[in-house]
Amino acid sequence: MNHFIITGTSKGIGEKLAQLLLEEGYFVYGISRGASALLSSYTKYEHFNFDLGNVLGIERLVSEIAGRINGNSIRTEMICLINNAAMLEPLKSIDQCSPEEINTNLQVSLIAPTVLTACFIKQFNHVSARRKIMNISSGSGSYPAPGMSVYCTAKAGMNMFTRCVGEEQRRREHPVEIIAVDPGMVDTEMQAVAREKSEEQYEMANFFKRAHQSGQLQSTENLGKHLLNIIHSKIEAGKLVAHSEE
Ligand SMILES: NC(=O)c1ccc[n+]([C@@H]2O[C@H](COP(=O)([O-])OP(=O)(O)OC[C@H]3O[C@@H](n4cnc5c(N)ncnc54)[C@H](OP(=O)(O)O)[C@@H]3O)[C@@H](O)[C@H]2O)c1
Repeated sequence: MNHFIITGTSKGIGEKLAQLLLEEGYFVYGISRGASALLSSYTKYEHFNFDLGNVLGIERLVSEIAGRINGNSIRTEMICLINNAAMLEPLKSIDQCSPEEINTNLQVSLIAPTVLTACFIKQFNHVSARRKIMNISSGSGSYPAPGMSVYCTAKAGMNMFTRCVGEEQRRREHPVEIIAVDPGMVDTEMQAVAREKSEEQYEMANFFKRAHQSGQLQSTENLGKHLLNIIHSKIEAGKLVAHSEE
């Protein structure tokens, strides 16, 4: 049996991916502040109401989820952590951002996935099942954009973190397959937040409006199917997978 721990399952990419995995018959443990009514109807879904800004509570959360996985009598074939939750805001030049806004974004988008990865590897170090970590990154981790410095920095950090842990794991006998994936532009609330800003507030707003109007956004369904292929494929630890690759 396969077990998936996914952050950010209340909406968007995380909710759709969780649904597709549940449809395949797997166990999914979802972490977000809000709950998804859609996912709560699946018996193999368990929701953990948790604010990822509380990074010091993550170790306990992971051991609670590990208790559920270890308590399952069906043989475990794969355990996978999907670091999907992130924050886009603050969307403004850095001198307009408050220390609180910067801190919250980096806690949720960068420190939480780092701590989750550390706890996941430690918790499942000695299991023989296949272990995988998929970090949902962004093209913003490679391309600088005005008004998005905190988000871009979190994603760039996530990419480097993935590469470093990949180096550590590749040296091990039974490596954790850690990868980062750039999903491309996807039709979710995060995109709506970016395009609904006024141009005075955020100069990239028009770019996101045009992307929406010209039909460049993928559906969460199409992306979810693509992510399923990536999950099932064996990919070398530390690799950054672009949305057009498999
Ligand atoms: N959409 C795109 O075009 C796009 C492009 C590139 C990369 N991405 C990446 O894809 C991932 C998913 O994005 P999305 O578009 O699906 O975003 P979304 O629709 O805004 O969903 C974000 C998810 O993250 C969770 N989250 C946010 N803050 C949290 C917190 N403090 N604690 C726990 N959970 C929290 C939210 O749950 P709650 O609010 O209920 O807590 C929600 O489930 C992100 O990493 C994003 O950077 C998206």
